[in-house]
Amino acid sequence: MSNESAKVYQPSPDFVKNAAVSGMEGYKALCAEAEQDYEGYWGKRAKELLSWQTPFTKILDESNAPTYGWFVDGKLNASYNCLDRQVERGLGDKVALIFEADDGQVTKVTYKELLARVSKIANALKELGVQKGDRVIIYMPMTIDGIASMQACARIGATHSIVFGGFSAQSLRDRISDAGAKVLITSDGQFRGGKSLPLKAIADEAFAMGGCEACTSVLVFKRTGVDVAMTAGRDVWADDIVNKQSDQCDPVWVEAEHPLFLLYTSGSTGKPKGVQHSTGGYLLHAMLTMLYTFDLKKEDIFWCTADIGWVTGHTYITYGPLACGGTEVVFEGIPTFPNAGRFWDMIQKHKVSIFYTAPTAIRSLVKAADTDPSVHPKKYDLSSLRLLGSVGEPINPTAWEWYYENVGGGRCPIVDTFWQTETGGHMITPMPGATPLVPGSCTLPFPGIQAAVVDETGNEVPWGQGGILVVKKPWPSMIRAVWGDADRFKKSYFPEDLGGKLYLAGDGAIRDANNGYFTITGRIDDVLNVSGHRMGTMEIESALVAHPMVAEAAVVGRPDDLTGEAIVAFVVLKGSRPTGDDAKKVIKELSDFVGKEIGPIAKPKDIRFGDNLPKTRSGKIMRRLLRSLAKGEEVTQDTSTLENPQILEQLKG
Ligand code: WTA
Repeated sequence: MSNESAKVYQPSPDFVKNAAVSGMEGYKALCAEAEQDYEGYWGKRAKELLSWQTPFTKILDESNAPTYGWFVDGKLNASYNCLDRQVERGLGDKVALIFEADDGQVTKVTYKELLARVSKIANALKELGVQKGDRVIIYMPMTIDGIASMQACARIGATHSIVFGGFSAQSLRDRISDAGAKVLITSDGQFRGGKSLPLKAIADEAFAMGGCEACTSVLVFKRTGVDVAMTAGRDVWADDIVNKQSDQCDPVWVEAEHPLFLLYTSGSTGKPKGVQHSTGGYLLHAMLTMLYTFDLKKEDIFWCTADIGWVTGHTYITYGPLACGGTEVVFEGIPTFPNAGRFWDMIQKHKVSIFYTAPTAIRSLVKAADTDPSVHPKKYDLSSLRLLGSVGEPINPTAWEWYYENVGGGRCPIVDTFWQTETGGHMITPMPGATPLVPGSCTLPFPGIQAAVVDETGNEVPWGQGGILVVKKPWPSMIRAVWGDADRFKKSYFPEDLGGKLYLAGDGAIRDANNGYFTITGRIDDVLNVSGHRMGTMEIESALVAHPMVAEAAVVGRPDDLTGEAIVAFVVLKGSRPTGDDAKKVIKELSDFVGKEIGPIAKPKDIRFGDNLPKTRSGKIMRRLLRSLAKGEEVTQDTSTLENPQILEQLKG
């Protein structure tokens, strides 16, 4: 395959001139530098960009491979690097956060103010007994206090683990329990799209399920003012314990490898795994990608629309922009409230210059602009924009071109950034002032990242041939561990089939036959990507079979114009196969049940019933057949090993 015929978009000479990575010569020089002295390349940048309390003398420690250590004898603090040093550099009165609430109210927070708020929360956590190394679960909306809570944990060396505010009580319980968290930080509720939704009440449900006994305190911020139950001796209002604290809190210096955070994400087997990140290496890549990929300058207004519940919100809201002393927009709400012009209105109002969002949001806003011209981006003054970004799933060329023309006015490069929870920051992405862009391709590896496409045995395949995406060398912001499961770490990410030394991303990829550009072809495991959210098919199957009516379930993905992929569930009930209105009732019941077990994002779009699932004579479910059925394709595969071909008819949908 070659994208020779595809239209190529060159960066403007002006952009090239002022960019951190200027022209392809600039990009190639960085790659060559890393090629010649890999450790030196990262070490030099770690020295220049991070402030160390104890400088490191060793760069890469491979003694415990594939668990790699970076800058191991250095000590630093992430919150100090994000806040104190900006104040020390004279940026105390610079706006760090421009917070826009769901209802449109705007609050600006300077670096000095954010440091004071973070310090107070950190002192409150100390009063609750939190010490270096303790885990704190954060179940908070997208608010200033959400970000400040993360920074507060980092300040005292506690390891935070955010649970997305859309996840259910069961998911929250599992994470509190798996992480062995000492404290939960939450709020009474959250605002989304004009609605007031509960959080604390869900947390109470999670505690009632049992298994959270190690979590002895719940710190509750007030957001919506909804009535909540407070358990004496466990729950405490932030207004009572945070506000009275001193606004000074010495940062706790930690080893570079100290776990800054865990973030649970879906894999192909079992429950979501706690991806563990380091402090030094992670923060370095957060900063370096802000500078190289986003070309962040001191006058930029940066806006990443992700939620702090996902890794994008960690690296490109809480850590990267602040560690670089930037000004960023933080948004509590959703892109379609009060109407689908919200993003464009906010870009205009806050003069956003760098805008980073997900293809699923773009696709839904294209649709909205088509039906209602008043929310078309062309109706807004978006002239402040100079750079656009995309993340979370492949961006189809049509959406890319719409984004480029209508949002970027045909003048802003788009950085299509491929990365993962496990990689900590961008892995394959254009450099906006260097890389000629081809819609649909994430182009070339970030300078220093050694990405490749290999076959099932780990050998590199020629350009133009599809294969498995891997990374050949360790990099500073890579995953360090799966919390509490060393075996799963090795098996998932450094499988023996590939030789045990290559990092397996879990995606397929193909490199263009002419220029080597990467195109991601989708997950090669049983992980679905719905609206940019990762979900394991096994997780959804387990949720379905937990329902008393369900005997068996198989879940597959099918392409969807709006959400990228959609969840299709094939279900065998313990009773007879329902039809007509009965079927409708059961579908709603099961869908709500999955919503309660995992969260609304995991609800299947399509649920079909059969007397059985298509199985081989040895009892293995034939998923490839289910994928064809889900897509509405004629089954053309060989069905000779199928035990029960007659049930295909029932499952056609
Ligand atoms: C997918 C999100 C194509 C991919 C940062 C990956 C992408 C998974 C892109 C990670 C992109 C992310 N092009 N696919 N630009 N970015 N993906 O952990 O399948 O939530 O493995 O991290 O999203 O999702 P995660």
